Amino acid sequence: MFRQPIAAIAALIVFTTSPGFTDTAAPGERSAQYVAFPKGYDMPAGFDYSDGKNPSDADWAAGEARLLEFLEKRNFPELRKHAWQIFAGMTSPTEGGYAVWESWFTADEVYAGPAKAPAATLSDRRAGIHGARQFGFGLTGAPEPNPGESVAANVMFNMPVRDHVWTNALFKPGTLKEINDGFNANNTPLLDRSIPQFPRDAIALKTIWSVVASEGLTILPVWDGELDQPEVKVSPPYPADVWPRCVAVTPDPEIKETTHPVTCNRQPVDAQVIGLDSFYHFRITEAELDAVNKALGPNHKDGTPETIKVGDYAILLGMHFTTREIPNWVWATAWWHDRPDQPPFGADRPDNVIGVWRNYMMNSGYSRDVPLAVDGGPATVWNPYIEGKYPNGMRSNCMSCHVRAVYPRLDPVIEGFDMCGALPVLRGEGSLPLDSPALGSRTRLEFLWSILLDTRAEHEDMCGDS
Ligand code: HEC
Repeated sequence: MFRQPIAAIAALIVFTTSPGFTDTAAPGERSAQYVAFPKGYDMPAGFDYSDGKNPSDADWAAGEARLLEFLEKRNFPELRKHAWQIFAGMTSPTEGGYAVWESWFTADEVYAGPAKAPAATLSDRRAGIHGARQFGFGLTGAPEPNPGESVAANVMFNMPVRDHVWTNALFKPGTLKEINDGFNANNTPLLDRSIPQFPRDAIALKTIWSVVASEGLTILPVWDGELDQPEVKVSPPYPADVWPRCVAVTPDPEIKETTHPVTCNRQPVDAQVIGLDSFYHFRITEAELDAVNKALGPNHKDGTPETIKVGDYAILLGMHFTTREIPNWVWATAWWHDRPDQPPFGADRPDNVIGVWRNYMMNSGYSRDVPLAVDGGPATVWNPYIEGKYPNGMRSNCMSCHVRAVYPRLDPVIEGFDMCGALPVLRGEGSLPLDSPALGSRTRLEFLWSILLDTRAEHEDMCGDS
């Protein structure tokens, strides 16, 4: 059976706090003024714009060429450096105090289309929280009827994504069918069977949150990678509720102990006590409570408070992000750690990642194949809090799964619920080459799953089938 995840997780959204600052304002009082990805963070790659100019199309093309050349030369340290800069730029504080990415648009806003007025306040945006669809399945392949899955995700996009979706009517039920029918009618060459390409400055992300009670200690498992072993060829699900090490999180500055005896995944341990300020966090108000509860489902367990109430805190556990800087997109993921400077995922964090963001480790990927993974197979990139919980999740690669986002959905490889073709976890270019006959009657969705999942009409199922 698929194990229950551990940390109850809520995915929220669009405001909150500058590093270390607790948001106590009523959500409706704050407007999340859109802030573009800032200058000075290697976007496009190789440019810093200290001269104040805006990047031209030629600069973006040069940035792409630079990244592709690094990839060609297997210069992974440079590619990793670039991913850190994306993280640094996205998490940098805005004038309003919130991180840049928090000012971006939720999937709900983007797929509502331009006719529906975009949310003006933060509480409007938070209404977009939902359970993470990536996890709507069990080990057996059957959907968990009452998942209590504890994971809710809020997918967010910057303005270039939003505008592209709107301009090309990619939010409308029917558009994908129309595009695909057109390709069929015109015998469009296989490699051209894609929705219009996003601009190179497009960025998408997915945030993952957990809840810390306003009193006492909340137990949070920490990933140490113990099971990510070379000899493991097919990795078991490795959800946080089997990780052997935990920390105890407290919002109370009066608690001075450094360790405290707790029960960590059914084992007694002395856990390190960690202040709430170590996380990107915000205080849950009446306006978000319902959404958080719904997103988490009734069965969240382990350290997370049994009943979530106003005044508890949402803490950011991790975040996936991707940019359209190269045709296959740049993929990266960050997750919280109590020893964040450890190699290989934390030791090279650049100085311009600031505040609480220095407590997050990061991994990135630019290819379905290289560098080779710990088991010698094609490249893996994954987040312990997100992919760790499903079969072979520790052998997954963002790009290899997201390339499967096509319309109509791919034929199932496994029986039962397969998340619209995302499952099982497959790896490497060979798992779905772009000239695969399977793509001959389909349209590639530019790696974005939300385009398949969020554009279906009422009468269609989750995967867009009538
Ligand atoms: C096995 C499949 C799978 C893997 C592996 C995977 N994802 Fe996803 N991802 C999904 C699905 C399904 C969604 C849609 C979830 C939703 O909208 O709630 C999604 C959503 C996203 C989004 C929101 C944009 C969109 O519409 O797709 C981003 C960004 C993202 N994932 C990044 C990543 C990154 C980065 C990694 C690797 C570290 C990764 N994903 C690994 C399946 C996967």
